[in-house]
Amino acid sequence: MTFSEKLLHYKNITEAGLERYTRFVPKKQEKLFEAMKYSLLAGGKRIRPVLTFEFARLCGGREESALPAACAVEMIHTFSLIHDDLPCMDNDDMRRGRKSCHRQFDEATALLAGDALEIYPFEILYDSVGYGVSAENTLKMVKLLAEYAGHMGMIGGQQVDTQFEGIPLGEKELTETYRLKTSRLLQAAACMGCLSAGAGEDKLKIAFEYGDKLGIAFQITDDILDVCGDTKEIGKPVGSDKENNKETFVSLFGIEGAKERAKRLTRQALDLLDGFADGGFLKELTVELLNRKK
Ligand code: IPE
Ligand code: IPE
Ligand code: MG
Ligand code: MG
Ligand code: MG
Repeated sequence: MTFSEKLLHYKNITEAGLERYTRFVPKKQEKLFEAMKYSLLAGGKRIRPVLTFEFARLCGGREESALPAACAVEMIHTFSLIHDDLPCMDNDDMRRGRKSCHRQFDEATALLAGDALEIYPFEILYDSVGYGVSAENTLKMVKLLAEYAGHMGMIGGQQVDTQFEGIPLGEKELTETYRLKTSRLLQAAACMGCLSAGAGEDKLKIAFEYGDKLGIAFQITDDILDVCGDTKEIGKPVGSDKENNKETFVSLFGIEGAKERAKRLTRQALDLLDGFADGGFLKELTVELLNRKK
């Protein structure tokens, strides 16, 4: 399989999994389910599930064993996007090429759809046992996802991001915020891939370090796209950070300075992948994410 074929394959099995996990439509909660599906099945890049599947493969695991974790992390990510767009957060009207969830529905529904997509993943992770993941490793995934998504992880990072709007943090603190708000979910994705395959501490350590570097680079590139991107292509408004008075790597160092830092982190992420004998796909993905236009 070529790089593009493999990427598409991972995306396709993710989409199928997400679709299967949200197929039900109960009567009274119809609006909630529609809102969940509206945001979840809107065609994001699915980078986190791709990481889960590929780390699982690199650790000798099976795709189906990684599927619940892949869907779980994409749901948590989608919840973070729904809430991130709310008027009380970044107040953005567009997401994944369509109206943001609270614009399409209403704020209460968007809030609840986010809540639901934050809880459901922990129900789904339980399915890993049925696909051959040990009970111990399934529990480890539950803990890891909860920790990396929660107040010590992504949500903690979002808090700092919101609280310090308009207040200078500086490079060190901003990096720490990116580590929480963005790296942690990428790390959860990569580490759960390893756990679903029953991998040991050595592989988990690489996944953790790799997700850390990749996540910071990914957020810096997101900052750059917020300035230089094309709304049609990125599927969300440009200029959101400036509007919200956010300090970003672009506001601190300019486009070139931000690019340089993203490149440096990408190189560090690539070096870590030397720890895998068969890391070609991930290396190509890592470079693609640096050069992405969306
Ligand atoms: C956007 O994430 C939010 C960040 C953490 C920068 P993605 O760029 O992965 O968004 P989708 O999933 O492709 O929509
Ligand atoms: C995203 O940061 C962090 C999340 C955890 C959602 P941004 O606020 O920059 O993400 P976008 O640009 O709206 O996707
Ligand atoms: Mg934000
Ligand atoms: Mg935002
Ligand atoms: Mg952004």
